[in-house]
Amino acid sequence: MSEEIISLKNITKTFVQSSFDGVFNFKALDDVSLSVFKGELLLISGANGSGKTLLMSIIAGLIRPSSGLVEVKERCGIVFQDSDLQILGETPEEDILFGLKNIKLPIEERNKRLEEALKKTGLMDKRYYSSRSLSGGEKRRLCVAGILAMRFPVIIFDEPYANLDYEGVVQVNALIKELRAENYTILLLSHELEKCYALADRFLVLHRGKKVFDGLPDDGLNQNLKEWSIRPPLFSYTKREDLIWI
Ligand SMILES: Nc1ncnc2c1ncn2[C@@H]1O[C@H](COP(=O)(O)OP(=O)(O)OP(=O)(O)O)[C@@H](O)[C@H]1O
Ligand SMILES: [Mg+2]
Repeated sequence: MSEEIISLKNITKTFVQSSFDGVFNFKALDDVSLSVFKGELLLISGANGSGKTLLMSIIAGLIRPSSGLVEVKERCGIVFQDSDLQILGETPEEDILFGLKNIKLPIEERNKRLEEALKKTGLMDKRYYSSRSLSGGEKRRLCVAGILAMRFPVIIFDEPYANLDYEGVVQVNALIKELRAENYTILLLSHELEKCYALADRFLVLHRGKKVFDGLPDDGLNQNLKEWSIRPPLFSYTKREDLIWI
């Protein structure tokens, strides 16, 4: 068994919610424990509002849990769902350099990392483009480039397929596969199992803030995923009438 690099024990996150009936506490994460091991790709799924982004934010140290223990031994980079909020530079080159300027690196090393990140994400041709005019898929790849340049050993992808077309999804998956082969530890948050299930080493499901499944992807397929509002991915389309999500 490889080294445990992230350990969460009995994490609860409570928010105060007010409604017509008064004010009450809402448990957005409810007693979640989880370990992440070096080099694995953990697919975290669950319906909208199940707690995926919150869990990730706690792991990355962006928010604190209301109770429970968090131990994270390696630095985590996040590719956010909304690329526009993550891109700060006027051009891809400037954006990638933003992070690198904060950690004092010799200029040669900075440029080496910049070139590598642009190459790996297929953005070399767009390095001097206006970041705003990049397509959705290119913006997502730019966010990945920025994280790669920082050499974070753990990379969290929050809904990386949101708004991407077929080609965009294929490109993101190719990148994730490459990172996985290079022994990065990857947390992939998605409810679109048909796009990424084969990438997973382990599968975890959140349902209304509770961890309801944590195991092998093969066993995950035998669960009643619909009960957790997740579309079972093993659907086959063979005729026109099949082409509808029901
Ligand atoms: N700052 C906050 N204040 C109050 N409630 C919050 C806050 N952040 C998250 N929540 C609530 O916690 C729950 C879990 O949110 P979270 O963003 O983790 O869901 P998610 O699984 O990432 O959903 P999605 O698939 O839509 O991205 C939601 O009900 C959300 O409204
Ligand atoms: Mg989310």
